[in-house]
Amino acid sequence: GHGVTCGKFILIGEHSVVYGEPAIAMPLHSVRMSARVAHGAPEHWFESELYQGPLARLPASLTGIKAAIEACLEELGERPDGLNFIIESEVPTERGMGSSAAVAGAVVRALFDLYRRPLDRDTLFALVQVSERIAHGNPSGLDAVATSAAAPIHFQRGEFRDLPIALTGVFVIADTGIKGGTRQTVADLGARFAAERSEVEPRILRLGKLTEEARGCLAHDRPARLGELMNEAHAQLAALDISSPELDRLVEAALAHGALGAKLTGGGRGGCMVALCTDAEAASAVAQALLASGARQTWIHRFEEYPA
Ligand code: PMV
Repeated sequence: GHGVTCGKFILIGEHSVVYGEPAIAMPLHSVRMSARVAHGAPEHWFESELYQGPLARLPASLTGIKAAIEACLEELGERPDGLNFIIESEVPTERGMGSSAAVAGAVVRALFDLYRRPLDRDTLFALVQVSERIAHGNPSGLDAVATSAAAPIHFQRGEFRDLPIALTGVFVIADTGIKGGTRQTVADLGARFAAERSEVEPRILRLGKLTEEARGCLAHDRPARLGELMNEAHAQLAALDISSPELDRLVEAALAHGALGAKLTGGGRGGCMVALCTDAEAASAVAQALLASGARQTWIHRFEEYPA
């Protein structure tokens, strides 16, 4: 059996989404996660870059996957003696690109493929969330949906829908090389919200407004305005202490080299940033500038990859 999912990035609405505002996430189909599973091993066996060995002795960071596999076999009504899982990942870990949800989704898809059973979106989501709950405590579900989605996703208070995309433009995503601190930044913002609500709440509401306007830009091909919205979102997140000097430096470098807009993406204080460019040529110039400003890795992503 074979299953494929992909990385994701949040275009806009991270953090404010925790307070009930909308967010938009994009599957990154060119950053692939693949799982293969076959019968034959004497016991369940797991091979990935992070770990090779019996499924029973998976390290703590991967125990969510084990739970997802068990829930999946339960759902399928299968009790195989030995399964051999092989994971091949292009999705970096702990960068806000959804690697944990992507592995779980690929494994679930591979198992349903092995037993030739149809897999609907809700079942896939539920099984990936089994893993995500163990890996992340209280996951919004955004990663579980976006890493197996065909199209960009609009997310608000647990409701998801596919977004129509008419935008022309190219994204550059860059990794600071620093582990993202999602758990910490979410907790810090929560504490600040409680202590200084009159300062924090207007910014969260504003991030929600920016996200709704961004949705219109995607649907009506307004890249220049989308760039402005991304810039303001970054400024709002920075004012909420979610950015870092490294993220700010990459955002400034992208803007100085012709990006229409740029912002941190995901949990912040590390992890990745994203820039919007007019075309592929502009994107490759921005990617070069980001690498020269200390980015560890960049990815170029075209809207044309999504179904019309
Ligand atoms: O770091 P990521 O890409 O998993 O994004 C976290 C997004 C937050 O809004 C900060 C948290 C959440 O649970 O939605």
